[in-house]
Amino acid sequence: MINKLSTLFVGLAMMCLVGCSSQETKLAIQIPTPERPAGQEHVVALTAPKLETVHVGIVGLGMRGDDAVVRLINIPGVEVTALCDIVPERVEKGQAILRKAGLPEAAAYSGSEDAWKQLCERDDLDLVYVVTDWKDHANIGVYAMEQGKHVAIEVPAAMTLDEIWALINTSERTRKHCMQLENCVYDFFEMTALNMAQSGLFGEIIHVEGSYIHNLEEFWGEYYNNWRLDYNNEHRGDVYPTHGIGPVTQALNIHRGDRMTHLVSMDTKPFNGKKMAEQFGVENKDIEFQNGDHTLTLIQTAKGKTIHIQHNVMTPRPYSRMYSLTGTDGYASKYPIEQICVRPTQVDKKAVPDHEDLSAHGAVPAKVHAALIEQYKHPIHRDLEKRAKEVGGHGGMDFIMDYRLIYCLRNGLPLDMDVYDLAEWCCLAELTRISIENGNAPVLIPDFTRGHWDEVQGYKHAFAE
Ligand SMILES: NC(=O)c1ccc[n+]([C@@H]2O[C@H](COP(=O)([O-])OP(=O)(O)OC[C@H]3O[C@@H](n4cnc5c(N)ncnc54)[C@H](O)[C@@H]3O)[C@@H](O)[C@H]2O)c1
Repeated sequence: MINKLSTLFVGLAMMCLVGCSSQETKLAIQIPTPERPAGQEHVVALTAPKLETVHVGIVGLGMRGDDAVVRLINIPGVEVTALCDIVPERVEKGQAILRKAGLPEAAAYSGSEDAWKQLCERDDLDLVYVVTDWKDHANIGVYAMEQGKHVAIEVPAAMTLDEIWALINTSERTRKHCMQLENCVYDFFEMTALNMAQSGLFGEIIHVEGSYIHNLEEFWGEYYNNWRLDYNNEHRGDVYPTHGIGPVTQALNIHRGDRMTHLVSMDTKPFNGKKMAEQFGVENKDIEFQNGDHTLTLIQTAKGKTIHIQHNVMTPRPYSRMYSLTGTDGYASKYPIEQICVRPTQVDKKAVPDHEDLSAHGAVPAKVHAALIEQYKHPIHRDLEKRAKEVGGHGGMDFIMDYRLIYCLRNGLPLDMDVYDLAEWCCLAELTRISIENGNAPVLIPDFTRGHWDEVQGYKHAFAE
């Protein structure tokens, strides 16, 4: 369904001399940006008519999809109208959740690879909520918008540049929202740190870090038809970048005053990956296991800032999203322990430098840390924290994500994440592969807004009057 444009792009990609941000001219791989189709406008700050009740159709009811049903029925103004999964028993599990909550059953679609098309074609849906495996995300998103529905798609919402441009062009043409369901931007520390950054506590944010480091050894066998290990088997590069890059690019105001210009990426060999493929029987006879056990990516922005992203799902390291913000006047990080650092004089006006006591150059003490966390608690968390923790979903952040999506749709507000966020976060999958396969060469990152990245100044959440 989606054109193989990027195959052409990669074919055309060439090492060429180009100006990269404010730095001197560099040798980089250029990825052409397709022209915006005639008659189509950008969707920065897109709004749509208010919806009193949001009628939702959910596609994909595996491990993650079931939880989505539970969360959505706990949000005011939501009706789960239709459910779809290839496997009929999984739709039945979704129906059981509705029955247990005393709600009517939803219309059910099942039994074929494209039963989701019939769900998208219903005329009583407002939002298609996609929780299938990665290969169908963008196809379902494009089709749903073409059928006049808003769409919310699990991470990563798109795996290739073709898919990304198809989602952007369809959202721009249809004026339908296309949001990626990136939950980590709503986690408690990340939102508090974002609030600190936006309040100026850290000065100007100049360098950020994020990652997905999670040993998936115990989970590989749980995915439907081994889709996840299959994907890693066949694709090199950072195939799951959004949890790491999402929260930190909000703090850098990406496409709200700055933009990512280019990246370089490097990976290890698939030392454990190859063994996992053998263990779970997903070896592809034609290729060696592709995805490196550890992938590192460096990104620069137009305003001379830097981003460091990592991906490792293969080794027994402690879980980490590596979240950190470095500013001209301070620092916050979440893993392995939460730390906040500001100049001592920012906390105590009478503080004097003590060269014998290097703890003065460490994080603020626990009491100051707790006070800062309370002082800068994000207004969204002040409102929703209690309810979010009751309903749950990764400690509550998943509920806040769904709540904000529905709240913005009901109030006709721009969503917290637009299709360009989706594009910027997901493009890493293909662009890191291109960098790695070309000797870690710099790769230019397209301006997915096609000229509109500097119009809105600063990332913000929208609120009803
Ligand atoms: N944001 C998060 O924290 C988070 C956590 C886990 C998973 N995820 C994402 O959620 C998605 C689903 O992951 P999962 O762990 O639930 O995987 P899963 O394998 O448990 O579930 C996928 C489901 O999709 C169904 N499916 C596949 N193709 C379909 C199609 N064409 N039509 C209808 N149904 C189809 C399968 O039958 C299965 O029930 C993935 O994109 C994953 O990356 C996100």
